[in-house]
Amino acid sequence: MKFFIDTADLTEISEAHAMGILDGVTTNPSLCAKVGVRDFEAHIAKICEIVDGDVSAEVVSTTYDDMVAEGRRLADIAPNVVVKIPLIKDGIKAIRTFTDEGIKTNCTLCFSPTQALVAAKAGATYISPFVGRLDDVSTDGMQLIEDIVTIYDNYGYETEVLVASIRHPMHVVESARIGAHVATMPLSVIEALIKHPLTDNGLAKFLADWDKLQASLK
Ligand code: G3P
Repeated sequence: MKFFIDTADLTEISEAHAMGILDGVTTNPSLCAKVGVRDFEAHIAKICEIVDGDVSAEVVSTTYDDMVAEGRRLADIAPNVVVKIPLIKDGIKAIRTFTDEGIKTNCTLCFSPTQALVAAKAGATYISPFVGRLDDVSTDGMQLIEDIVTIYDNYGYETEVLVASIRHPMHVVESARIGAHVATMPLSVIEALIKHPLTDNGLAKFLADWDKLQASLK
């Protein structure tokens, strides 16, 4: 399973990268606003210098011609840029164009199996279903992941299921159990994957016992 970090914060990206387990980065306009990105293309270039893996950069255009022009500019920033496109009609058309041009795409804002099926037919590299936002409206986000993985497996679609809007470690556990290809998470969730109170307590006890042993040898 691939781990992506879901942020535009360069410090957080560097921190996750330093752990040696980071496979890519996803950004969106809200995440860019959160860290006050001024020059978007320069910012994406900086992220691509830190991380070797796929870096999703989202278009803000909403018509086919504009999305294609904007996406081509983004794809020119670095070879690992993935053009992120919203799941609307013109977006699907743009994904087909990028697929035909060999430009990688991440189809975002997916909330249903039918949307995911259409994105796969257009040749999207990634589909991003938002599990947390579905949970927020009393709909089972993980059920959507299960449905999409089953549908893609049934027909051998190569589109990778990138679980997005992850809010806690159980979203990651369930994604892995279902066989989703990628989980994109905030740094807080990546760190939470590692935490266990028995590990911390156990380590504290090991170190205390070791200190006692050293003191007894003096
Ligand atoms: O990758 C999509 C993600 O950034 C959305 O997360 O927490 O705003 O629903 P959230």
